[in-house]
Amino acid sequence: MWSKWTVLAVAITAVGLTAAGLSFADDKKESPLEKIMEKVNAKNNLIKKAVRTPVAFKKAGKSVVKAAEDLAKLGKEAREIKSAAEKVKKPFSDWTKMMDEMIAASEKMAKAAEKGDHAEAKSAQSALTKSCGDCHKVFRVEEDEFDK
Ligand code: HEC
Repeated sequence: MWSKWTVLAVAITAVGLTAAGLSFADDKKESPLEKIMEKVNAKNNLIKKAVRTPVAFKKAGKSVVKAAEDLAKLGKEAREIKSAAEKVKKPFSDWTKMMDEMIAASEKMAKAAEKGDHAEAKSAQSALTKSCGDCHKVFRVEEDEFDK
């Protein structure tokens, strides 16, 4: 039974949802660097999982080579972006140096995966993880605490 109040409530809910949808769309505006970092994160997760055990590493096979090569490529793209250094007022050369660490670790990872050398992949993995953290410490400033 649809009283006029029910109709009104439904209408209000619909308006509310639309407004929420719009503000959600606004939140999704991303900087070019954020877009790259999301891809970096996905590749890194794939590699991390694959390297966890010798069995997983063997099973992942050439997909690790591809992910590591993609990661190096993404690093080279991100290396050219000046916004993060400008934001924290640090020399751009610090930025490129740290990104070079990530690129070098990714290239090591690609080689290790090509050879199927799990021990070498593990050591490349720790260098890779370290490169993310080292850079984030300096250049990734959180605008609000609720953002991841
Ligand atoms: C040379 C610096 C640098 C390196 C290396 C780096 N990052 Fe980042 N990362 C940043 C900066 C700066 C931001 C913040 C971007 C922004 O908010 O505009 C960021 C943001 C992110 C984000 C959040 C993206 C978002 O949507 O807000 C993730 C996830 C991330 N990085 C993962 C990684 C992983 C994983 C690695 C290593 C494999 C890595 N990053 C290596 C500088 C770096």
